[in-house]
Amino acid sequence: MTANLVVLISGNGSNLQALIDAIRMRALDATIACVVSNRRAAFGLVRAEQAGIPTRYFPLKPYLDAGRTRAEYDADLATLVAAYKPEWVVLAGWMHILSAAFVARFPYRIVNLHPALPGMFPGAHAIEEAFAAFQRGEIKQTGCMVHLVPDEAVDAGPVIGTAEVPIYRTDTLETLANRMHQAEHRLLVQSLQRLIVGDEDIDDDDE
Ligand code: GRF
Repeated sequence: MTANLVVLISGNGSNLQALIDAIRMRALDATIACVVSNRRAAFGLVRAEQAGIPTRYFPLKPYLDAGRTRAEYDADLATLVAAYKPEWVVLAGWMHILSAAFVARFPYRIVNLHPALPGMFPGAHAIEEAFAAFQRGEIKQTGCMVHLVPDEAVDAGPVIGTAEVPIYRTDTLETLANRMHQAEHRLLVQSLQRLIVGDEDIDDDDE
């Protein structure tokens, strides 16, 4: 079975690129039905177009400008995503917190990537915070995780996979961030493949 994915991005899309490359290399049994970005300038949209993947730009601002709520945006985003009938909705650098209006439409089918280990550094500045904690002598390493999104909790939920990432005394924020992104790319592909194979096992059990 080839799993159908919708990937949500906000920026560079290097994790999206890792998925595209893994699909080409047959390391990931998936197709990407659509890439959705809340930012028009997200380079990930270019990556998707170059790979022949449909893209949708879906910004929050027009909703807020029109006096509409975040929940309305999330509900319409869910309808947009659902039209592609994804087995998995992948948050690959999606920088919005999704409310129940979205999450409830895809129960245990939303996969988030976060550049910190479980319980550590939730939010948008995890790598910077880990680097600062290392400077203060509070941690010796950091890492990244892939988890399911069961509710509105930020960067928390059943963990599918983790990868530890060492921090060296010679690191700058940039060298640490690069090492982190390399680890994220591998972990996201491995974790999604594990979920997809897990689905196949469940299907086999049904037969
Ligand atoms: C990644 O570090 C991801 O974990 C975080 O945002 C970054 C996105 O990078 N939430 P990219 O857009 O995939 O290059």
